[in-house]
Amino acid sequence: MRRKLAAGNWKMNGLSTDMGEVAALPTGLGVDVLICPPATLIDRMVRDPDTFVQVGGQDCHPNPNGAHTGDISAQMVADAGASHVILGHSERRQDHGETDALVRSKIEAAWSVSLVAVLCIGETEAQYQAGETLDVLRTQLAGSLPDGAAPGNLVIAYEPVWAIGTGLVPTMAEIESVHGFIRAELATRFGTDTADGIRLLYGGSVKPSNADEIFAVPDVDGALVGGASLKAADFGAIMMALDAAAKAISV
Ligand code: 13P
Repeated sequence: MRRKLAAGNWKMNGLSTDMGEVAALPTGLGVDVLICPPATLIDRMVRDPDTFVQVGGQDCHPNPNGAHTGDISAQMVADAGASHVILGHSERRQDHGETDALVRSKIEAAWSVSLVAVLCIGETEAQYQAGETLDVLRTQLAGSLPDGAAPGNLVIAYEPVWAIGTGLVPTMAEIESVHGFIRAELATRFGTDTADGIRLLYGGSVKPSNADEIFAVPDVDGALVGGASLKAADFGAIMMALDAAAKAISV
């Protein structure tokens, strides 16, 4: 049984004064909780005695060190205390020209220091309109996933670019079919046991108001939440919706 995961991507948001939002999250739920704050807050969040969450980075460089001003290596993310790192987010692909090959090398770097990679994949609006979604995802998976993927080192987040920060969400049937497709692709390459263990998150305009229906979709093992992860009231409500979905499956 895959344990559900509620993951928050704070993107370029969050100061030390926002740490209270994490401390205010509900505790004692039967789901994993991961917050990926800006790199400046990783160490503080890891050390905060009031928080129980796992902490992740939002990016890393493929090299362990070197002359790369402004970059942060996987080793540094791990050294700060993070357990996960988001890689291949569409905002990195768009803003920084990241290719599948680069994302793949970043995942290898993450794995070399035992970080769990949270690989983001997803189609643009134009690709969606053109009916190219599955082709895009197949290409991204093939190009960005190294050999050796396993439930313990990988989480995949399906994030349609057109759904990020827009309030738009695919239909539940679309999410179900895409997540089923991703799992089938993983099974073809890594075998059924591995594919069955890897958690698949949905990301893109997840809110307390739509969390219940999204979490009821087969093959959705949680969410990667942007804007709604910044406030404890919203993210806490999403965590509770996920906990309810987990309990509904286990009865
Ligand atoms: P929003 O939840 O703000 O749409 O962002 C989703 C996202 O990009 C998470 O990585």
